[in-house]
Amino acid sequence: MREGLLGIEKLTREEVQTILDRARDFQPGPNGSGFKKFDLLRGRMVVNLFFEASTRTRTSFEIAAKRLGADTIGITAQASSVSKGESLVDTLNTLAAMRPDAIVMRHAASGAPHFLQRYLDKPIINAGDGTHEHPTQALLDARTILDRGGSLEGLRVAIIGDIVHSRVARSNVHLLAKFGADIVLCGPASLLPAELAQIAPGITLTTDMRQAIADADVIMMVRVQLERQQDSPFPASEYFSFYGLRLEHLELAKPNVIVMHPGPINRGREISSEVADSQRSVILNQVENGIAIRMAVLERVLSGCH
Ligand code: CP
Repeated sequence: MREGLLGIEKLTREEVQTILDRARDFQPGPNGSGFKKFDLLRGRMVVNLFFEASTRTRTSFEIAAKRLGADTIGITAQASSVSKGESLVDTLNTLAAMRPDAIVMRHAASGAPHFLQRYLDKPIINAGDGTHEHPTQALLDARTILDRGGSLEGLRVAIIGDIVHSRVARSNVHLLAKFGADIVLCGPASLLPAELAQIAPGITLTTDMRQAIADADVIMMVRVQLERQQDSPFPASEYFSFYGLRLEHLELAKPNVIVMHPGPINRGREISSEVADSQRSVILNQVENGIAIRMAVLERVLSGCH
């Protein structure tokens, strides 16, 4: 069985570094020259199977595969026979019988790609599983931080928002911890369980947003995941007054702080428009790096060079 990419947790620091370094070769050149086209995966077929909504991840996996010369096909939950009662295992086996070279998969259930990988002789790339991991998001986030210069070691990274439901936060924690970053997780107590401090070294928890941001090099906002909250959620205005990132907060951070958000952003809930559109925001750089990182991941998985 070929190796896919199911999460950051099980990767070594060296494996992560290799992907981050390779992604640089795929970044667009200066002067708006765009992404180059390569022939590295000509004749390969990638199936993008998305059981949850996605704009960034789905599109950038598709562009990344095409930029490498691979063919792609996209399937959504509504368009698959899962909507007619077929099991996930049967759906995956059916697709595998058509001999794709890899399956990129997003699913609302944590662990779904890990479970399916046990039954499937095709590499699966996890494009986000429930509240568990979103490995390519953490990789593109790390690439974006590194593009600003320096290293991840010793950086103070404040991750703020609905931490308990955030696969982005979890994958970032695993990645940043491997490189010796200081990670501060911040959010309302009900969305910040104490166990999260144990998942990797270098983590502190706080419910105080100002404390989290003090001296931060990176502020990473994560979305309030209304679709995953069982209890009645905070009203948007109340949440924003306690945990919404506003311009005044940036003064507490390091002068060259960058503001990140994986998207989709909810303006006026977790971030103000003034911050999202400010010079400190690298939100669109993250989106751009999504293509280079996914090219590096697809090349690694499909060319079998691990
Ligand atoms: N960041 C992210 O996963 O965005 P999408 O849900 O649009 O793919």
